[in-house]
Amino acid sequence: MKVIKIASQLQKIAFKHLKNGDNIGLVPTMGALHQGHESLILKSKKNDDVTIVSIFVNPVQFGPNEDYLKYPRPIKKDLELCKKNHVDYVFMPTVNEMFPNNYKTFIEVTVLQDIMCGKFRPTHFRGVATVVAKLLNISCACNAYFGIKDFQQLKIIEKMVKDLNFKTKIVPCPIVREKIGLAVSSRNLYLSAQEKETGSKIYKILKEVSIDFKNKSPHILKQSTISKLNKISNIKIDYVDIVNFNDLSSVNKSTKKVVLAVAVWIGKTRLIDNIILAR
Ligand code: PAF
Repeated sequence: MKVIKIASQLQKIAFKHLKNGDNIGLVPTMGALHQGHESLILKSKKNDDVTIVSIFVNPVQFGPNEDYLKYPRPIKKDLELCKKNHVDYVFMPTVNEMFPNNYKTFIEVTVLQDIMCGKFRPTHFRGVATVVAKLLNISCACNAYFGIKDFQQLKIIEKMVKDLNFKTKIVPCPIVREKIGLAVSSRNLYLSAQEKETGSKIYKILKEVSIDFKNKSPHILKQSTISKLNKISNIKIDYVDIVNFNDLSSVNKSTKKVVLAVAVWIGKTRLIDNIILAR
């Protein structure tokens, strides 16, 4: 396993692999790797000749009062996990390598970036789209793997890739959950045992509400989710939304496939989760 810090070096290596006819898979991460990331790595190991994991806590996707400085950075553990899973290259650039002082170019996937999480994190998806575009170009990825826990992120990246004619195939991967139902996330490291227990109730509620998907309107399902979440002490809702699976647009009773998505605060930690519902 090679650790590479310079973008042009990785790009050179990637070009060589492409020339040899190798399929390159990219797993973009901000580190603090967990079972969710591991599942993406395993998928790439199965599909691709070469697996690249990027580890970069991207400052551009954090708002001014968010947890950029506090975001966990267990580099040694992360590298061990990559090695154990036979990752070929780990790309670990510095901030200056990705966004030097004279950096000026940003990507905005309009409309999609302003709803749901975007309402609460106004510059977040601009930062995500920009860094992912750079990572796709640097790695020359044929496949790039993203978890559907970050459903809005996935849709924004899919749209960016389509609109900007990237050749990379975006591969959505299922949510990995802890035994108690909590979706795995690097931010779970912030949670106390009691907060984790609270967090486990989110998915229970999503499952309970989805039982009524076929016979209740999206509005009622949304209200029911809100009222169940509000009954849990120590949970503060940012939003509950039901959106079209394909493009995050509004839904009505006849929409075939939807996503019920939530963002909540448990203490000082913001968690997101979702469930896909189909008729
Ligand atoms: O999902 C993440 O970890 C990040 O948003 C990503 C896609 C690696 C971009 O920084």
